[in-house]
Amino acid sequence: MKETVAAELDKTSNKYVLPRVTPDMRMRRLRSKAPLRAMVRETHLRLEQLIYPFFIVEGKGIKTPIKSMPGIHQQSIDEMLKEAEEAVNLGLSAVLLFGIPSSKDSQASGAWSDDGIVQRATRELKKRFPDLMVIADTCLCEYMDHGHCGLVHDGKVLNDPSLEILARSAVSQAAAGADIIAPSDMMDGRIAAIRAALDANGFENIPIMAYSAKFSSALYGPFREAAESAPQFGDRKSYQMDPANGREALREVELDIQEGADIVMIKPALPYLDVISQTRNLTKLPIAAYNVSGEYSMVKAAAANGWIDEQKVVMECLTGIVRAGADLVITYHAKDVAQWLKQPG
Ligand code: PBG
Ligand code: ZN
Repeated sequence: MKETVAAELDKTSNKYVLPRVTPDMRMRRLRSKAPLRAMVRETHLRLEQLIYPFFIVEGKGIKTPIKSMPGIHQQSIDEMLKEAEEAVNLGLSAVLLFGIPSSKDSQASGAWSDDGIVQRATRELKKRFPDLMVIADTCLCEYMDHGHCGLVHDGKVLNDPSLEILARSAVSQAAAGADIIAPSDMMDGRIAAIRAALDANGFENIPIMAYSAKFSSALYGPFREAAESAPQFGDRKSYQMDPANGREALREVELDIQEGADIVMIKPALPYLDVISQTRNLTKLPIAAYNVSGEYSMVKAAAANGWIDEQKVVMECLTGIVRAGADLVITYHAKDVAQWLKQPG
């Protein structure tokens, strides 16, 4: 540590005499030239880290814009395949599938039926783009008439009985060809249940990406419009985490790892960078971060108003998520970012 010397006032010139600036104080040296800045840059967002979500509906030729998420659509399988081709041509490695079934019920039968919307979309995707990693979101809310992520009885979301349906959904998604199973329901014990069911059905090599620390966030608002999955009564606070709880998030991560998670996820991303960073210190497993719908909508709205530079803000946000410790980033900006990484602005 250098001793700090106070500036003295020179009586004759009436100017402060400053202590000599010592060489190790010159942080600006490495910032002086662009190539030099690039050489010492610590964090690089890579194409391979990005995961792009799809919202798939029944029908043909359907491509319905989601108002609160400019650039994102609900689309039928044929339209989704066109966008998947675009994603592949841009160099993206992975997509995350959400299904919106034409009818919902109290058993979420659309979630585990072999000809469910995600199962069919997965088969089509894997047939055309075998190298594109298909990640199946495993949850029940889009398929339940009440919109909750588990079975409901007497106004309560049941934990243990929901595990069997979740496990059944995961197995049918794996059977359809999903490369990764991503449970987002937040029921206790679901990772163990799904792991056991996958193994029992010959899918011991299919990894689980667990939405481990999924907070009960107001930033999911636009997604619920996209996935038509808003709860019809109450909220998700009895199963999703309280946004104020960081230590509890680490317990969730630890539990999911014990139960057999291969990748752990923190969601949302930007308000929870501390949780990502602490998770980085807790585990050697890959960490995914979900830059959720509300985070996307806020940036798009500000950019549409000309208030911010969209490209620079998106790159800064996503680089920050990676700097905090995320290996994978799920983001609706993925196609744009792929383009920008090819031709930096
Ligand atoms: C549902 C699910 C949600 C998201 C992913 N899976 C919303 C919710 O829990 O209500 C949110 C994703 C986003 O906002 O982009 N299990
Ligand atoms: Zn859900």
